[in-house]
Amino acid sequence: MTEHETTETTGGPQGRLKSAASARWNDARSAEMWGQYADGVTQHDGRRAWERVIRDIVGDDSRRVLDVGTGAGFLAGLYAQLGHDVVGCDFSEPMLEQARERAERDGFDARFTTGDAEALPFDDASFDVVTNRVMIWSLPNPGIAVREWYRVLRPGGQVVLFGNHPEDPTRSLTERAVRRLYAASLRVRRGKSANSLDDDTQRTWYEAKTDLPFHHAPPSKIRSLFDAAGFVDTRIVDVAETFDQWRTLGPWRERVPWHVVVGRKPE
Ligand SMILES: C[S@@+](CC[C@H](N)C(=O)[O-])C[C@H]1O[C@@H](n2cnc3c(N)ncnc32)[C@H](O)[C@@H]1O
Repeated sequence: MTEHETTETTGGPQGRLKSAASARWNDARSAEMWGQYADGVTQHDGRRAWERVIRDIVGDDSRRVLDVGTGAGFLAGLYAQLGHDVVGCDFSEPMLEQARERAERDGFDARFTTGDAEALPFDDASFDVVTNRVMIWSLPNPGIAVREWYRVLRPGGQVVLFGNHPEDPTRSLTERAVRRLYAASLRVRRGKSANSLDDDTQRTWYEAKTDLPFHHAPPSKIRSLFDAAGFVDTRIVDVAETFDQWRTLGPWRERVPWHVVVGRKPE
């Protein structure tokens, strides 16, 4: 077993992390906020950058895509609108409700279903692409999760992970300063926590999250995990310039990716 793995997901420290994460993500107001972010990014001209990067990595042929930790269906919607056959899964029902509402409102076709990223409710080899954005950091057992993603991919299938931490943390100093200012301005406007969580949930989550093994993980650490799970041809695609990292402003800025970590399941 490596430092990223454990078989214990219901008790002990891992169980504590898991229940803190579950409370954090099952908060209805937080899900609403993620829906607003998703709308913000997709209406913003960064959308073209998202489409370009997805097409460059995945190609134009229609694929069976699983978006793990889909939240309000942001990434699922982009893939669906590019013609892919998409399933979004998440362990938060409020998030999935947001995703379904967005699909209906924006007219894209994707199936949204409940599922734990670390114990997926799908058959072996049932997807061509497993994708996600900014969720691996919130998993208590990322090693178990990545092996699950490997399992549900068909041989030759791709894992495509969008992350928002650069390899060199000094590169994101400006971004982090803008993010803090934005969070402070939200607190002033709302008169409460910027992420809408109630005080208890927020305190528990803030105490727990620094113990998460991939909190602030750089792309090289994610790539090593992909290698350990058996993925081949793993690589890190730096997309900061494609997304015009330094020009993007507004609440969605912090969701703009710095990198994509990609791998392939051997044939
Ligand atoms: C930071 S949000 C990102 C949402 C979405 N990927 C996006 O980019 O807008 C993390 C998401 O992962 C989900 N999540 C966290 N842990 C999970 C798990 N173990 N299984 C399934 N979903 C999980 C949360 O409910 C939340 O929707």
